[in-house]
Amino acid sequence: MPDAQLFIIVRTVHLITITVTICGFVLRGIWMLKGSPLLKALPVRILPHVNDTILLISAVWTATFVEQYPLVNGWLTAKMLGLLAYIVLGAIALSYGRTRQIRIRAFVGALLCFSYVVLVAATRNPLVI
Ligand code: HEM
Repeated sequence: MPDAQLFIIVRTVHLITITVTICGFVLRGIWMLKGSPLLKALPVRILPHVNDTILLISAVWTATFVEQYPLVNGWLTAKMLGLLAYIVLGAIALSYGRTRQIRIRAFVGALLCFSYVVLVAATRNPLVI
């Protein structure tokens, strides 16, 4: 398969898994706010890890295609840090936050971090301008 076609496929996988990630996160956030037991259901705990693994593989693969790397190119370093902040805040929002208020604040913070990562990707600039 020509490299250009493979790139389009891997980049599309990256974009699909990102969409699944944010839709799944918002859904779990709503369940968290409603105190729904669905949040603790086995598939709900496992599937995000499967999707996140595919997301990371597609992300690294996409990066090798465009020969841009975290810790080398500023925008990808910013993306990686934004992603880490999203993961930490997301874990506080959905699992570790001790009070409802902490969870809600972490949830909003995670959404802001995710938006920042998307903007950095779109502009290829850590300052998103
Ligand atoms: C939550 C995490 C992430 C989100 C929301 C995200 C979002 C996006 C989006 C929206 C694009 C398309 C930008 C455009 O063409 O307008 C993109 C492209 C890209 N992403 Fe990610 N990404 C994430 C994680 C990562 C990570 C961790 C890496 C690298 C290790 C990465 C590497 C890339 C690369 C290299 C491209 C550019 C592909 C191109 O030149 O067309 N992404 N990302």
